[in-house]
Amino acid sequence: MPGLREELAIDFCVVNGENAADGAGITGKLADRLLAAGADVVTLGNHVWRRRGIEDYLATSERVIRPANLAAGVPGRGLVVAAAQDGTPVAVINLLGALFIGAPVHFFEAVDALVEQARAETPVVVVDFHAEATSEKVALARALDGRVTAVIGTHTHIQTSDARVQNGGTAAITDAGMTGPHDSVIGVAADLAIRRMRTGMPVQFRPAENDVRIEGVVVEADANGRATSCESLRVTL
Ligand SMILES: [Fe+2]
Repeated sequence: MPGLREELAIDFCVVNGENAADGAGITGKLADRLLAAGADVVTLGNHVWRRRGIEDYLATSERVIRPANLAAGVPGRGLVVAAAQDGTPVAVINLLGALFIGAPVHFFEAVDALVEQARAETPVVVVDFHAEATSEKVALARALDGRVTAVIGTHTHIQTSDARVQNGGTAAITDAGMTGPHDSVIGVAADLAIRRMRTGMPVQFRPAENDVRIEGVVVEADANGRATSCESLRVTL
């Protein structure tokens, strides 16, 4: 990550790390490693609680956030403001979609107050929208156009070809893709994923190993938080 940050002149890096722990959840130790490697903020998703001990870690972590639209009172936070390399404050919001995920609070019920809270501190606001449905991702990107810098979709592991800057100046992509082994079924060893689907029987999943790629999106923005470019990134290791 340090090499990539330098090569692309990245001022601020957000990593969705929800499956950093062998493809399911994250541990405090792994989150610390992502931060040490150069992530400014780590976001999570529907697998937030998969690993034991993460609730205590999130309760005190400032740079690792979980979806904001979980049940009231659960540990952690869904919005953080951190400084970019040049000192610009950047707000990051993490939200879960509705379809097939069933977040306790619908994202449209939560998002306006979060954006308002973020914009009270900085015009540069990034939303990691962790959702299954392309329609929800496009709808949220449109609904926030002109109010945030970027709406970046995560969760499906498949990078979409719609990186764009919308008319109001909000960058968007339906899914940033997966950093992980692409010789797989969304990261899982293909034979195991196929066997579980084919038989409907429980099959222990194992992460695949080959064709590891870094995928993501690079957004450029001005001092007013308006995106000026948005390009998907794919690096084969
Ligand atoms: Fe997910």
